Amino acid sequence: MERRHFLHSTALGAMLLKGLRLSGATDVPALLGGTPVRREKWASWPVFNQAEENGLLEVLRSGMWWRGEGKRVAEFERAYSQMMGSRYCLATANGTSALVTSLGALGVGAGDEVIVPPYTFVATVNAVLIHYALPVFVDTDVETFQMNHRKLRASVTPATKVIMPVHLGGAMSEMDEILEVASERKIPVVEDACQAHMAEWRGKKSGTLGKAGCFSFQGSKNLNAGEGGAILSNDEEFIESCYAFHNNGRARKVTSYNFSYASNGANLRMTEFQGAILLAQMRRLEAQSSSREQNARYLSQQLRKIEGITPAAEYSGSTRNAYHLYMFRYDPQGFAGLPRSIFIKALNAEGIGCGGGYSPLTEEPFLKQRLESSAYKKLYGEKRLNEVMEQNRCPDNVKVCNEAVWFTQTMLLGGRKDMDNIVDAILKIQKRADALKAQA
Ligand SMILES: Cc1ncc(COP(=O)(O)O)c(C=O)c1O
Repeated sequence: MERRHFLHSTALGAMLLKGLRLSGATDVPALLGGTPVRREKWASWPVFNQAEENGLLEVLRSGMWWRGEGKRVAEFERAYSQMMGSRYCLATANGTSALVTSLGALGVGAGDEVIVPPYTFVATVNAVLIHYALPVFVDTDVETFQMNHRKLRASVTPATKVIMPVHLGGAMSEMDEILEVASERKIPVVEDACQAHMAEWRGKKSGTLGKAGCFSFQGSKNLNAGEGGAILSNDEEFIESCYAFHNNGRARKVTSYNFSYASNGANLRMTEFQGAILLAQMRRLEAQSSSREQNARYLSQQLRKIEGITPAAEYSGSTRNAYHLYMFRYDPQGFAGLPRSIFIKALNAEGIGCGGGYSPLTEEPFLKQRLESSAYKKLYGEKRLNEVMEQNRCPDNVKVCNEAVWFTQTMLLGGRKDMDNIVDAILKIQKRADALKAQA
């Protein structure tokens, strides 16, 4: 219904108009025509200055644009492994190729199972499917949004080739139990740390706890090169296998005119331009990470006081959260039954950009199609596929998908006033939840 028509034709509209006159427009939800809590822009993103410009121009003018000729990618690999406390680093074209390369170097293929969480970006699962391996999902821990480590042990089978936790939103998965199960069964852990630059578990950086840690430097990430990725590892033999895999199977020592191959693979290399941007962007990562964490901790203190809002919890072993996302669960009960979709709309109208996050990955038609394909039936047999599809239902994950609300990391780069705006907007919506619900 058009807003003006709505206001003049309903009892609620009349009440709102009266409210407008009585208490001023600031109390009326922006979705119902009131003044938004916030009109200012959020902290800008991406951030860059002369350092990025110089770095890019140097590469351009040098004519050495790929890693085989230049030195930026190698320099970045040294700097990133040092900053993260890992012995080795291999830069890749993007985070997906870091995951694909790690699984390829570990020999993951047809007939293997890889354990993954369902609350993640689709790339985690695509990296498994591209190798014709079987993704086995362990349900989500509703409190933390991470893979439920308590359910991991029961999902391991003799076919499990890799356990791949995701540090979702920049918060750490419960690594004590994940590493314990992995070491009991001698299964390598590949951490999908694509969202978790600088996060820590008991003082160790994300991506350095398992066999490999994979990162993304795509434009929305806390460390940004537009596109980019990296693998960290302390295992030299493994990182050399990754090198060969990401270089069409050609090992590091192979020269231009030597066409011999260590393995299969693909071209998943990072360019020198990406390397140059990353070297400049990296200098800001520590300060930006601290700012995100300080703002997020303050925001959580405030939001915990609001009925119906439950910020994602962290495990006790987590010593640093990268806050790539700020995530909380929304309960309509605290908001007069206002559905999440209207809450999100109302918050956006107040100038607080937010979204509902992932939808249930295990219910995606593409996944069902893949698991029901003749190739998968031949590889795994209908009995195992049916078992896995049953196990992949993940009801807790569906709950999280239905209740989540997200803010992006860039909203955490400003000052405390930005956080207060978020809190004020939520309180304003809560106060007028009845009116918003009636309008829906
Ligand atoms: C959890 C997770 N894994 C993997 C990826 C893939 O990274 P990229 O987009 O750099 O390929 C992303 C990127 O959004 C991600 O969030």
